[in-house]
Amino acid sequence: MSALLEARGLSYSYPGGVSALAALDISVGRGRKLAILGPNGAGKTTLLLHLNGTLRPSSGDIRLDGAAVGYERDALIGWRRRVGLVLQDADDQLFAASVAEDVSFGPLNLGLSDEETRRRVAEALAALKIADLAERPTHMLSFGQKKRAAIAGALAMRPEILLLDEPTAGLDRAGAALLLDALKRLSEAGTTLVFTTHDVDLAWAFADEAALFCDGRVVAQGDVAEVLVDGAVLARAQLQPPLLARLGLALRDKGLLDRDAGLPRQEDALLALINRG
Ligand SMILES: Nc1ncnc2c1ncn2[C@@H]1O[C@H](COP(=O)(O)OP(=O)(O)O)[C@@H](O)[C@H]1O
Ligand SMILES: [Mg+2]
Repeated sequence: MSALLEARGLSYSYPGGVSALAALDISVGRGRKLAILGPNGAGKTTLLLHLNGTLRPSSGDIRLDGAAVGYERDALIGWRRRVGLVLQDADDQLFAASVAEDVSFGPLNLGLSDEETRRRVAEALAALKIADLAERPTHMLSFGQKKRAAIAGALAMRPEILLLDEPTAGLDRAGAALLLDALKRLSEAGTTLVFTTHDVDLAWAFADEAALFCDGRVVAQGDVAEVLVDGAVLARAQLQPPLLARLGLALRDKGLLDRDAGLPRQEDALLALINRG
């Protein structure tokens, strides 16, 4: 079965010659939660900008449902309808006077009726738990509220795949938890999620799959439980195994966790193991 979205041999240099992607391969399976991990400057943002057609590769191609995508106007519109992108900086995404106006921009642009647009806006605001902010001017939102408003804008298009650039960066613990909870519900409702982060602990707790980036290439992609415990491959992306994985391995060494049992992915699972021991 072909991937829902994939990139093969993707290379890209920014004007001026900075090479950002170097023959990169990545594949996104339907319904998955894929974390793209790597240090600053590795090419994560540049990849996301390719995955919804904002940037066009110097070479290589991108496939949706196994078919190479086109860059003509109609093809791009169809593509972006299926693949939504949430930029790292919400200020780059929000532009309308109020939250509701901003979120309705996409559906209206798709040519949907006022009634359908209202339904989509209400649904998107409810999903992010910001219905009470509908009439608030976007410049009067907190950082976390802006982030959720930007995501609501992408959601109102009902994308199959949502790409999020560093979704939790800059959020406090409670703000990050709120956001992740909303993303979890979206995933459970069938949306495929792809997000960049340099936080291995976040990827460990939240993602099914991880792709490790280094110098514009994916050096490993696979199930989180495999990729994020491979110290050698993580080191290539300047990362370390997640704390819960390291503690889980220590519990295995002490005989408190069976050899074939999975490592704890959440704090309460780890505490349960310790309390049992
Ligand atoms: N607008 C731009 N113009 C020129 N070079 C850029 C631009 N944006 C990013 N780069 C370069 O491309 C490379 C990859 O950047 P980026 O995709 O932003 O990485 P990441 O998101 O992993 O931090 C870096 O070397 C960066 O300096
Ligand atoms: Mg980036």
